Amino acid sequence: MKRPDQWALFGGTPSFAQPLHVGQLNLPQWDQIEVTFRGIFERQWYTNHGPLAREFDIAFARHLGVKHAITVNNGTVALMVAARTLGFDQGEVIVPSFTFPATVQALSWAGLTPIFCDVSPETHTLTAEQVRPLITPSTVAIAGVHLWGQPCDPEALAALAEEFGLALLFDAAHAVGCTHHGRPLGQFGDLATFSFHATKIVNAAEGGCIATNDDELAARAKTIRSFHPGEQYAPVDTRINGKMSEAQAGLALLSLAELESNIAANRQRHMIYQQRLGELPGLRLLTPATDDTSNYQYVTVVIDSERAGLCRDQLARLLDAENIICRRYFEPGTHRLPPYRDDPALRVLSLPVTERLCRDVLVFPNGTPMTEDDVSKICDVVEALLAQAPALRAKLEQVA
Ligand SMILES: Cc1ncc(COP(=O)(O)O)c(C=O)c1O
Repeated sequence: MKRPDQWALFGGTPSFAQPLHVGQLNLPQWDQIEVTFRGIFERQWYTNHGPLAREFDIAFARHLGVKHAITVNNGTVALMVAARTLGFDQGEVIVPSFTFPATVQALSWAGLTPIFCDVSPETHTLTAEQVRPLITPSTVAIAGVHLWGQPCDPEALAALAEEFGLALLFDAAHAVGCTHHGRPLGQFGDLATFSFHATKIVNAAEGGCIATNDDELAARAKTIRSFHPGEQYAPVDTRINGKMSEAQAGLALLSLAELESNIAANRQRHMIYQQRLGELPGLRLLTPATDDTSNYQYVTVVIDSERAGLCRDQLARLLDAENIICRRYFEPGTHRLPPYRDDPALRVLSLPVTERLCRDVLVFPNGTPMTEDDVSKICDVVEALLAQAPALRAKLEQVA
């Protein structure tokens, strides 16, 4: 193994010749893509609810076991459509700050006021206990996030929403293929939204979906998603162009067909990460609870700098130079981003777990193009770096 001065950050050769990113692309075989795209060009039907988009609506609803899957062109638009579909033109929505900013900005776009809530240090998601004290007469909804595909306290939040007559929305962007107590996560809440971004387990290059069992909400969401005159199912004030194209739907169908095998391969790699990184001092790797299943797309590690000897940012910097491109989600927290950070009340808001996670979370690469040997090698590198932590800390200060 390398000596401290041989690591790439200090001039050595990187451990990997090519960068390994978080969200490695789960792409179907090229010959399958070619056949699908030939069909689109032969039919000359590229968008406006073509046959592939309609087929994917049905296939994804069946996959989730819900009545309606309303597919759109990305996960952000899914959240925007969902926020409008709730039908409130004002009111407070309790939402985590530890999430992709789109979760919160979609609420603001719909005229709603986000009320930031801290998350559980174990699951990184909202819990009913944390949400309850934030409910006021102005609260209209709770927006939980199934972050990393971890269930966001679905049953307890549903009970709380019912107790106070609130709507319940889940951002399930990370959660395709994940279940809680045997039920796909898209079945929880009034509405659940998904992302089929290129880095997600189902990859449509870009894509998203709103899932619901409620016919009235489905009618509103379908109307909001499109200006297309044939898509008028409910009276709504605002419509946008959120249609999924045929190219996206074609990719989504191929990717959905490979979901189970991609999850199985992700799981194998995740197990190696668990066995190897879980053993190292100061590193805690998130694993699904026994009665949940995961898509294992996210390898999320929380780093305790005292015990690990290196803080998250030091480790990330060293790994980056080795071409192991880990990601620091969701620094600095949505409440510290524009436009929210300009609100004087939010400037002093304390969300201790969120702030700690923004400082300590590091997500490692996973996805189909990676081999189990790649993962073992990444773990070798992390182990060696932590074993040399005192010497590396001193060297890092010199290259600051
Ligand atoms: C939690 C979460 N919600 C929503 C989104 C938005 O999805 P998209 O990139 O498809 O717009 C993302 C994107 O990664 C996300 O991580």
